[in-house]
Amino acid sequence: MAKVVVTRKIPGNGIKLLQDGGFEVVVSPQDRALERSELLNFIQGADGVLGQLYEKVDEEYLNAAGSQLKIVANFAVGTDNFDLPSLLSHNVIGTNTPDVLTETVAEHTFALLMAISRRIVEAHKLALTEVSTFGPEVLLGIELKGKVLGVLGLGRIGSRVAEIGKAFGMNVTYYDIKQNADFETKVGASFRATPEDLLKEADVVSIHVPLLDSTKHLINSERLKLMKPTTYLINTSRGPVIDENALVEALKNGTIKGAALDVGETEPKWAPGLIDLPNVVLTPHIASATLEARSAMGELAAKNIIAVLSGQLPLTPVKQQ
Ligand code: GLV
Repeated sequence: MAKVVVTRKIPGNGIKLLQDGGFEVVVSPQDRALERSELLNFIQGADGVLGQLYEKVDEEYLNAAGSQLKIVANFAVGTDNFDLPSLLSHNVIGTNTPDVLTETVAEHTFALLMAISRRIVEAHKLALTEVSTFGPEVLLGIELKGKVLGVLGLGRIGSRVAEIGKAFGMNVTYYDIKQNADFETKVGASFRATPEDLLKEADVVSIHVPLLDSTKHLINSERLKLMKPTTYLINTSRGPVIDENALVEALKNGTIKGAALDVGETEPKWAPGLIDLPNVVLTPHIASATLEARSAMGELAAKNIIAVLSGQLPLTPVKQQ
């Protein structure tokens, strides 16, 4: 009987699907990230792994699992934890969970944007003091209608964020390595040929690129300086896309107005000084955390494992870049 290990408990029917598929299913008893040594021990002898985005799948991992391993199904759309050449050389298929979390992540992007632009966290703290009520200048924020939303990366999530921005009456621009004329016509978004062109004019910059060598520190100190002092930066992609130390400086100096981040450069820690700033809203990598999205992610990961271990093609394989 093929063995599938699930490195952390997940919501929804994913585990049941695997059990009904006739596999031996072992779920980590710990509801926490496994230490590296625990993980390497836990995946030993598995034919399939349903794993988490913070688990680096590299030579060490693949050797520890053993040569019977056929698939690692990431419980995530991002796959920067996969060492793709190693997966290829070990003949192991990697899969991810696209589409099923798009809506949820796009909604969280707007939750962060509304929180920073309407100062919701500051307002909540003030309300708890029971001393402040309506005041003409208390906690002024900005309206989104008519503002320029600059979307960096027009993949599934970036596209949905652009659509929601339109619904808010924002003027949407985007930068991507590929121009998408159909999307421009359908949604009414305008292409910018370089990140710089987008950064110079956006009132809100929202990041939706995968983490690659080419996108690491895409937002660095030089590019932050191009942005307007009134601009908000939102990140629900991957932390290392922003040089977080440079961001702290930019927020302290008023180079930009504020930032709302779901992801950090070295999770779960934030760059020194970031958490002391008033013009920041932070969430701990929860952009896909709805019951709907997380259940669907588990089910898609399980279906990928069932397909591969039954000799079929995976539904959502990760392609070598
Ligand atoms: C979450 O960050 C994901 O990649 O799914």
